[in-house]
Amino acid sequence: SPAPLVDQFQRRITYLRLSVTDRCDLRCAYCMPERMTFLPRKDVLTLDEMHDLALGFMARGITRIRLTGGEPLVRRDMIELVQALGRRIGADDGRGHLEELTLTTNGTRLAEFAEPLRAAGVRRINVSLDTLDRESFARLTRRDSLPQVLEGLAAAKAAGLRVKLNTVALKGVNEHEIADLVAWAHGQSFEATLIEVMPLGDVEEDRIDHYLPLVAVQEDLARRWTLTPSGHRTGGPARYWDVAETGGRLGLITPLTNNFCDGCNRIRVTATGQLYACLGGNEQVDLRAALRSADPRGALDEALDVAMKIKPARHNFAIDARGAVPALARHMSMTGG
Ligand code: GTP
Ligand code: 5AD
Ligand code: SF4
Repeated sequence: SPAPLVDQFQRRITYLRLSVTDRCDLRCAYCMPERMTFLPRKDVLTLDEMHDLALGFMARGITRIRLTGGEPLVRRDMIELVQALGRRIGADDGRGHLEELTLTTNGTRLAEFAEPLRAAGVRRINVSLDTLDRESFARLTRRDSLPQVLEGLAAAKAAGLRVKLNTVALKGVNEHEIADLVAWAHGQSFEATLIEVMPLGDVEEDRIDHYLPLVAVQEDLARRWTLTPSGHRTGGPARYWDVAETGGRLGLITPLTNNFCDGCNRIRVTATGQLYACLGGNEQVDLRAALRSADPRGALDEALDVAMKIKPARHNFAIDARGAVPALARHMSMTGG
């Protein structure tokens, strides 16, 4: 059987982030301009191609897949891909299997999809939410959709999905609300993770104006609460803390102030089938060409071997969130984070 995916730094790659669409029904100011140029639909992989791709990855030892976007739930018939992949959870027919299938969503369509996701085998989801204030939500996302998101979160909870909230910490936007947001999340039995804004793609404002180092936020929270390091690990970039007073878990994702690349287990694929070996790098491999070749599985295996050779040791984000220091032209919505 084909070799597992191991890069030149002996990191075993078992986790795939697959962006099913770059489109989104929100326009978060740090993520996209209002008039975002989306990928031409003809360049985007069909859901069948994404399924074949995922099977090729599973054959090489990928056991966890996170579906991302853009907003994954805006893609028509997305649930069919989730259902097909869900059938690979715990499969034992020797063709590779999944241990976990997850999704990162903005929550606007969860009221409709929470139950079908759960039925398809999804057990936990990550939901992006930066504020609980309707007006600041509308300002930040340029859409008045907070009520739908809250409904979606309630539906997720009712469906028995474990929920982790992702909050980008933004100076002058939500910095005074962060503790309340974390407390609210924990009160709902959700995990909460805070993220430093990253220099990905041009937006209309200067991200440095809103860059908030999480060390400062953590100090503030530590004055309020007792934070103890948690042993919890997902193989992802977050470092986790237990909050004694709320009984909840808090994750901190600090790409700019702290490096977490040594234990990286992941690769990412865009909706057009471009594999990025690192979120913070430009190294890419064209999997769509492989999929559309005469010998898709053979070509895919070769492409994955190339990807293992080019995965960099670490991302090159630097402290300047404006991105004068190696910022990427690519938006987060391309690679799904
Ligand atoms: P797990 O799958 O549970 O580890 O979740 P996660 O936190 O990795 O996934 P999620 O989709 O919720 O992403 C949260 C944030 O982490 C997003 O802002 C991502 O862009 C960021 N992120 C995820 N993977 C990486 C990575 O490899 N490098 C960097 N710099 N950021 C990442
Ligand atoms: N920096 C940090 N996080 C970002 N996200 C989108 N763009 C950026 C950025 N430039 C976050 C979203 C979501 C996650 C997938 O990525 O808020 O929580
Ligand atoms: Fe959409 Fe997520 Fe980007 Fe906001 S951060 S515009 S929800 S893809």
